[in-house]
Amino acid sequence: MTERKRYPMPIPFGWYVVDYADELKPGDVKSVRYFGEDQVLFRTDSGEISMLDAYCPHLGAHLGHGGLVNGECIECPFHAWQWQTDGKIGSIPYAKNIPPKAKETQIFKYPTVERNNLIYAWYHPNGEQPHYEVETYDEIVDPDWGDEFQKFEYHVDCHIQDMAENAVDAAHFKYVHGVVTYPEFEVSYEDQKRFFVQAANMETPRGIVEGRIIGRSNGPGDNATKFEGICDTLLLGSTTPIEDEKCIIRFSFLQKKVDGKVPEGGVGAAIIADINKQVKEDIPIWENKKFALKPVLCDMDGPIAKFRRQYATFYVDYDEAQRIAALNLK
Ligand code: FES
Ligand SMILES: [Fe+2]
Repeated sequence: MTERKRYPMPIPFGWYVVDYADELKPGDVKSVRYFGEDQVLFRTDSGEISMLDAYCPHLGAHLGHGGLVNGECIECPFHAWQWQTDGKIGSIPYAKNIPPKAKETQIFKYPTVERNNLIYAWYHPNGEQPHYEVETYDEIVDPDWGDEFQKFEYHVDCHIQDMAENAVDAAHFKYVHGVVTYPEFEVSYEDQKRFFVQAANMETPRGIVEGRIIGRSNGPGDNATKFEGICDTLLLGSTTPIEDEKCIIRFSFLQKKVDGKVPEGGVGAAIIADINKQVKEDIPIWENKKFALKPVLCDMDGPIAKFRRQYATFYVDYDEAQRIAALNLK
């Protein structure tokens, strides 16, 4: 396959969802790929999570292909060297002594956090430690809300920034998603956070319902959107780059209980179906578009320049031309 390079931007740094907490049980080992690298993700017998670079420093085996959790270590499938969750050597079962070189070796470990029933890993191209905290969403632990996510996953060939730009691209809601009224929303920024409020009408089997959409983004990978109307719905939209032009989107829905029970079917199901319908409508645009470095915009396009200016802060090696283009957008 020829490599397509449709975007000048690298992968932005930030916290990204790499798995669901309930899908990584003690003893589980997974081979994963994010941020253009191969990793092993595992949970030890005591419940600690670790995400390390995949390749064993001994002779290069992939720890996620046949590696096993052994107590608090990951055991390599090739010669059984055991590596701790911090990436340092635990033991070499057949060696009389652990050589000094092995003691000095440390497999690169991604900072991880388990929160909101999700597992987040911090990515930074230079290996810097986290610049900000992972958000906690109260609805997840609120007994008035459901306990289990409804989960959906999408693999999309697109740069993460261009998918995120959708949220502030007002006009596409009408032409791609068939939204009846032109969306009027307010967007504000505070450091790595973006806040979004929109009055929104939703089409449901019972007709059009007046509602409100409240969005919170914490860095490039973590978005929480609350749909308020007849059936309150929380969507954690977690987008994680696999390569610079390939992402996985995880949609995790939670709904507010009515009379002590999570609603089944009806309007609640229709809201979730409509949001999924929207992303399926976006995907063909995203997968075939190219980044418009100097877009030609009109007065009702939405605050795209502001969006790009904040997004530029998530890059270390940022293409200067794009920064200038973003600043020049009216
Ligand atoms: S390659 Fe991992 S123990 Fe030899
Ligand atoms: Fe969209």
